[in-house]
Amino acid sequence: MRNLQAATLALTVAAVVEALVRTAPADPPFLVLVGALAMASTAPLALRNATVAAAVVTVAMTVSIAGFRLATVAGVLAQLVAAYLAGRRGALAIAVPLGLPFLVLAFGHPVAVVLAGLVPACALAGAARRVSRADAAHLAARDAYAGTLVEHTARGERARIARELHDVVAHHISMISVQAENARFTTPGLPAAGAERFAAIGGTARAALTEMRRLLGVLRADAAPVTPERRPQPGLRELAALLDEARDAAGSGARLILRGPPVPLDPGVELAAYRIVQEALTNARRHAPGAAVDVEITYRADGLGLRIRDNGPGPEGAAAGHGLSGMRERAVAVGGRLRTGVAGPAGGFVVEATLPIREDT
Ligand SMILES: Nc1ncnc2c1ncn2[C@@H]1O[C@H](COP(=O)(O)OP(=O)(O)OP(=O)(O)O)[C@@H](O)[C@H]1O
Ligand SMILES: [Mg+2]
Repeated sequence: MRNLQAATLALTVAAVVEALVRTAPADPPFLVLVGALAMASTAPLALRNATVAAAVVTVAMTVSIAGFRLATVAGVLAQLVAAYLAGRRGALAIAVPLGLPFLVLAFGHPVAVVLAGLVPACALAGAARRVSRADAAHLAARDAYAGTLVEHTARGERARIARELHDVVAHHISMISVQAENARFTTPGLPAAGAERFAAIGGTARAALTEMRRLLGVLRADAAPVTPERRPQPGLRELAALLDEARDAAGSGARLILRGPPVPLDPGVELAAYRIVQEALTNARRHAPGAAVDVEITYRADGLGLRIRDNGPGPEGAAAGHGLSGMRERAVAVGGRLRTGVAGPAGGFVVEATLPIREDT
């Protein structure tokens, strides 16, 4: 903008000087009129509104050529710049016809011939520039959007890997640790060296779990919220095997209680239910070793109810791992809800979730 003002000032001075030099000697009133016209054909360039500027410049230039057969070099330049700027502002319907007055004057003045051709051309060049700028802005916006999408997808994928690692691999490793401890204490006549090996296996499994938790922390640090997964994955049918496994590993009671008439469930809901029960059993084994666990699955009108309850010591403090948050995320991702806490006055830990049942079933 500042450049345009400086250029306008230079053009105005040049136009006035040239007009006066070319018309002198003449009467002072005539000189004043010619000088004023020269000024009017250049100075409006500095106006904010490019369309108004182009219209005023064109009127002044037309009067100057028609009335005095005078077109200054600076005036011609200003006329072309004005047409270009008006075209760039998108006022093509006004900018292109600005060449018409010069077409009318073309027979009497060679400069008018040039202006008749160049004014519409400059207006079109301005419009083309506007379009290419808009295209560049559009492309930049599209690139930015694509980048965000890639980043979002990558985050979602990291969150998914973190959950799978936690729910699947950590579950099995914790199983190894519990089984090793059990074997150490319950195998009759186990020699000291054997007990030591079992202790070492348990220790290694626990170390692997610690490492994995650290890794999960990194993966989940900036992970996006979950989206339901729909590939063939374990569901409620596999729960019996999961409970058998838990019973065998911990050597304590684990019951599966089913209530209500079963209805087919969305695979995403089945998977969420399976993973929630799996993590609740892992937690019970880890934080309430030896406790009995009841897993209740209730088909209700308002959804599938899950209740995993143990009779262990209950929560100790505000320890925060990835398991409870992962369970909650899975429940929310399929449109359900989940709560965890003290099971009752006698203690114990409970995980309760309600997951949606499809309405069309
Ligand atoms: N059955 C339970 N009995 C007692 N405390 C529990 C039980 N389940 C969870 N908790 C408490 O809640 C905390 C959070 O559980 P969460 O599953 O999120 O983490 P974690 O099991 O400690 O680690 P991980 O990230 O490997 O799951 C536990 O550290 C524990 O203190
Ligand atoms: Mg856990």
